Amino acid sequence: MAFIVKKKIHGNDYFYLRESKRIGGKVKSIDLGYLGKTREEAEKRLKERLKKKITQKIEIKKEILPTKISVEEMAMFCKKKGFIYQSGEIYGGFAGFWDFGHLGVELNNNLKNEWWKFHVSQRKDIVGIDGSIITHPEVWKASGHIDSFMDIAVQCKKCGYKSKVDKHELGKVKCDKCSGDYENKGHFYPMMVTQVGPIEEDSIKSYLRPETAQLIFTNFKFVQENARMKFPFGIAQIGKAFRNEIAPRDFLFRSREFEQMEIEYFIEPEQKCPYEIPNEEILIYSVDAQVKNKEPVKMKIIEALKKGIIKKDWHAYWLATEFSWFKNLGANANNFRIRQHMTDEKSHYATDTWDLEYKFPFGWKELEGIADRGDFDLSQHQKFSKKDLSVFNEETKKKILPHVVCEPSLGVGRALLVFMFDSYCEDKGRGNVVLKLSPKLSPIKAAIFPIVKRPEFEKIAEEVLKDLGEEWNVVYDKSGSIGRRYARNDEIGTPFCITVDEESLKKKNVTIRDRDTTKQIRVKVSELRDILRKLINKKLKFEDAGKLVK
Ligand code: GAP
Repeated sequence: MAFIVKKKIHGNDYFYLRESKRIGGKVKSIDLGYLGKTREEAEKRLKERLKKKITQKIEIKKEILPTKISVEEMAMFCKKKGFIYQSGEIYGGFAGFWDFGHLGVELNNNLKNEWWKFHVSQRKDIVGIDGSIITHPEVWKASGHIDSFMDIAVQCKKCGYKSKVDKHELGKVKCDKCSGDYENKGHFYPMMVTQVGPIEEDSIKSYLRPETAQLIFTNFKFVQENARMKFPFGIAQIGKAFRNEIAPRDFLFRSREFEQMEIEYFIEPEQKCPYEIPNEEILIYSVDAQVKNKEPVKMKIIEALKKGIIKKDWHAYWLATEFSWFKNLGANANNFRIRQHMTDEKSHYATDTWDLEYKFPFGWKELEGIADRGDFDLSQHQKFSKKDLSVFNEETKKKILPHVVCEPSLGVGRALLVFMFDSYCEDKGRGNVVLKLSPKLSPIKAAIFPIVKRPEFEKIAEEVLKDLGEEWNVVYDKSGSIGRRYARNDEIGTPFCITVDEESLKKKNVTIRDRDTTKQIRVKVSELRDILRKLINKKLKFEDAGKLVK
């Protein structure tokens, strides 16, 4: 322990900071530094030193960094905390299907809301739809899903691993896991089949949609006319998609039932991008670099466009826009890259595709696909439905069939994993996990605690809960020590903990604790809701939002 001591040197008083330590079984006193010539001066300096030390500690705490964990560990964490459970787990589970718990559904909804706000509500050029999951079976003939996905289901003769291969690859490729030979298991059916109609002989065979996109194409003409959209414009949709994945794996990454957030962005053929390309820098992995076995290069996306690495301004614009959406919601930019599809990798409808990839614990993988679909889909639906889907251009007085120059297509589950991995921190100092989610995504925005279980504290806490509850998902917690309550909320990503204490009774104020730094401020109850709104939306710095509690 350190304390102030007075020393007399040549008849004068000098004050020092001294510490007593037990060294080798003996207590020894060590002077830690000179503090001044008077006791007041010494006390003042000591206070400053202590303050500096506390701030340094806070600075260190501020730097908690994400902890690398495996996808299995993440699945365990999500189950333990009530985010996501294996579907049908009490019956042994059902591969490729997941259920969202009370925190998972809030997180998922917040994520989709943020996507919709950014891509639809805040833009004038994109409107939304919500199409049905089961639609006319002809849609899937026209889209090419029935005929063009001609993969063959295979199983390794040596290790039993199940996969699918392109029909041209059969006999040429070996098992991904053990290099054994594959056995042909017949056609691989990527779509889930269902029967529409209760009487079998009258029923129609249909499919659960494998992508939301087709409903946008089939409704294109109605939406364009009703919403009076002028080119360039987009139609967005969030909804479920189903795929008969042969080997669902890696938690939400590859499931059989999942959600997509998709935009079909329509232009008149050759129309240029009128928007400024966001100034984003990212690792870029072109076809050329992949063919030549080179490493991806870090570059501004706009530079890649100027150098011809990215061919179309639209592709540069959407890649940068999508990357910025992730960054603005707190994802770690260093875990992202963009990769161009190789020729044999592109879907049957795409002329050029770039993926936004993320460094998952199991490697770099597709997070979001951004394909140039040209006029493939509208011409197919025009052909199959025999309906005119072209649009009359008032200026040129010509009919045109629009092109989908970019289709940003993102899986909700994959995006959710990105935010979970980039915010999961095991804080050794605190002894618990801190889930540093952006407050906009956090399932619970604030937890409200009475410091002790006494009616006068609980009354104020309940009033605060009622007021904040009108706007956000907030919780009330009065069980356990205050430290335990902080830890519980750190682990589920609650950004702010609000405590009603002694001072609240006298001065009608509360403390707010910041999850990431553990700093606390004191604010008036009457201003709390407004301050919290600004903090959640990052319109106010935490330190400037109230009086810092020492
Ligand atoms: N409409 C285009 C389309 O569906 P895709 O690359 O097959 O393209 C788009 O899928 C996105 O949907 C992927 O980038 C991924 O985020 C998500 N996705 C695809 N299959 C998935 C699966 N089995 N499980 C979870 N997400 C999946």
